[in-house]
Amino acid sequence: MVNRQALIIDCDPGVDDAVALMLAFGAPEFELLAVTTVGGNVPLKKTTRNARMLRQIAGRGDVPVHAGADRPLRRKPAGAGEFHGEEGLGFMAPFAATGPVADGHGVDAIINAVMEREPGSVALAVLGPMTNLALALRKEPMMAARLGSVAVMGGARGEGGNITASAEFNVWADPEAADEVLRSDCKVTMFGLDATHQVRATDARIAAVAALQTPQGDTAAAMMRFSQKVEREIVGWDAPPVHDVCPVAWLARPDLFTLKTCRISVECQSELTRGHTAVEFRPAIARNLPHQWAVGADADGVFELITERLR
Ligand code: RIB
Ligand code: CA
Repeated sequence: MVNRQALIIDCDPGVDDAVALMLAFGAPEFELLAVTTVGGNVPLKKTTRNARMLRQIAGRGDVPVHAGADRPLRRKPAGAGEFHGEEGLGFMAPFAATGPVADGHGVDAIINAVMEREPGSVALAVLGPMTNLALALRKEPMMAARLGSVAVMGGARGEGGNITASAEFNVWADPEAADEVLRSDCKVTMFGLDATHQVRATDARIAAVAALQTPQGDTAAAMMRFSQKVEREIVGWDAPPVHDVCPVAWLARPDLFTLKTCRISVECQSELTRGHTAVEFRPAIARNLPHQWAVGADADGVFELITERLR
C-alpha cells in the first residue's frame, strides 16, 4: 500500500457524515488518527454517540472518538434535525456502542496529533461547524502552518444557501469559527454546495451500495434513503446531495474534483446574510488567493469509490 494519508475527521453525524465516515473507515488510503465530534446537526451528546455507533458498525474500534465543542464560538447551538432525524442517523435507532469515548477533548486530540507528527503530514476533514478547528487554532496558533490539507464541507457561491437563502448550514451555524479558520494559515480546500449539489444519491447509486450487503453498505444505503425521503418532502427534489462525502473522497482521490484558487470570506455581521461565503477568484481584487474552492465533481467516480470502499 502506498503511504497512507494520516487523517482526522471532525464531524457532526448526521446522515451524510455517516456515509463519509463509512467511506473513511473502509479506505486503505487513510491512516485514521481520530474522529472528533462537534454539536451541529444534533447536540454533541448525540453526534458523539452516533460516531461511536458508526465506528462499531464499521469494525474500526481502533479509531478513537473524542468529543469536542458542544456549542459554537458565539452563537446559540442550532440543529438541522429535520434533515437528519431526531437522533441524527435517520431511520437508525440508537444502540449502546461498546467502544468508549476517548479521554481528552476533541480540540486537544487535533492539536496533539498535528504537533506530534511531521509538519504537513496530518490532514483534517471538517464535516460540521468549524468550532473545534477554530478553538484548536486559538489554543495552538503554530498548528495552522503545521497542518496538512484542511478539507472542509461548507459554504455556497453559485448555488445559494440551504439553511437560509444566503448560507450553507455548517458555516451559518458558526460563522465566527469559519471566519477565524479562513483568516488563518490553514491550507483550506472548501467543498461548498456548488460541488456537493453535483454529488447526489440517486436510486441507482443507493441500490448499488445496498447490493453490497455489508454492514457498512446497509448503513450508508439507509442513511441515503432517509435523505431521499426528506429531500422529497422538504426540498421537492428527488436525489439528495451527499455533502460530507466530498472532502473525504477528494482526500482519497483528488482527481474526482475540479478546484479553483480563491479567497473565501465569511459574513459575520448581518443576520440576513449570516454565514454567507464570498468566494473571490480574481487575484487583482483579492491580492492573494490562499484557498481552493471545488467547482466540479465526478459524481459517478465518487459513488464508485464509495461502493468499492464499503464492499
Ligand atoms: O449543509 C450541509 C452540511 O450541514 C453537512 O455537513 C450536513 O451534515 C449538515 O451538517
Ligand atoms: Ca455534517
